[in-house]
Amino acid sequence: MTRFIQVFCILFLLLLTQVVLAHKTSMKQRKPCKRIVLYLHDTMFNGTNGFNATSATVANGTKLGDFKFGLLAVFDDPMTIDNHLLSPPVARAQGFYFYDMKTTYNSWFSYSVIFNSTKYKGTINIMGADMMDEKTRDLSVVGGTGDFFMTRGIVTFRTDIFQGFDYFRVQMDIKLFECY
Ligand SMILES: *[C@@H]1O[C@H](CO)[C@@H](O)[C@H](O)[C@H]1NC(C)=O
Ligand SMILES: *[C@@H]1O[C@H](CO)[C@@H](O)[C@H](O)[C@H]1NC(C)=O
Ligand SMILES: *[C@@H]1O[C@H](CO)[C@@H](O)[C@H](O)[C@H]1NC(C)=O
Ligand SMILES: *[C@@H]1O[C@H](CO)[C@@H](O)[C@H](O)[C@H]1NC(C)=O
Repeated sequence: MTRFIQVFCILFLLLLTQVVLAHKTSMKQRKPCKRIVLYLHDTMFNGTNGFNATSATVANGTKLGDFKFGLLAVFDDPMTIDNHLLSPPVARAQGFYFYDMKTTYNSWFSYSVIFNSTKYKGTINIMGADMMDEKTRDLSVVGGTGDFFMTRGIVTFRTDIFQGFDYFRVQMDIKLFECY
């Protein structure tokens, strides 16, 4: 009888590992069902460039550390398909970011990419950490509306250019893994 129980237990464990492994492989990176690569242009308001600025500081940094800890900026930035600031925007990125690290430049983004073109209508909602020292950073696509109804995915940030605090351009490689 004990032998039977032993064999049964071993078989059961084998079955369990199979199930776990099968689950793991099915959760492995799939190919995106949609991919959109856009450039975001952030021109910071400096007091005199009101005509061209698309982003403004709402709360200044604190004196904690030397990396603007606490600075909060709200933006309504154009997004273009190439890296030219003056190319016609195909979407807008609206939201905010704040600096949240004492020892290096690091920020946290929360924003919507809003499409209102003949190609797409709707929003993609994105949030996550932007560890600026890294060459690429992944943020989460947490949802969407319209043509992006209930979507989820990953956005990979690559800094294209950073001109002090006045202007930066980031390539956003939007990969959606749930499309309806
Ligand atoms: C603000 O930016 C504009 C455009 O880059 C520049 O011409 C102007 O001198 C800047 N103003 C200040 C106060 O830095
Ligand atoms: C806004 O940008 C355009 C194009 O780069 C430039 O010609 C113009 O002088 C800028 N205006 C201001 C107020 O900075
Ligand atoms: C924000 O802080 C910077 C540096 O600490 C300072 O130069 C700037 O004048 C401050 N801006 C405002 C609007 O208080
Ligand atoms: C979207 O574009 C259409 C046509 O240009 C315009 O009438 C409408 O107001 C826009 N909607 C938004 C939310 O910007």
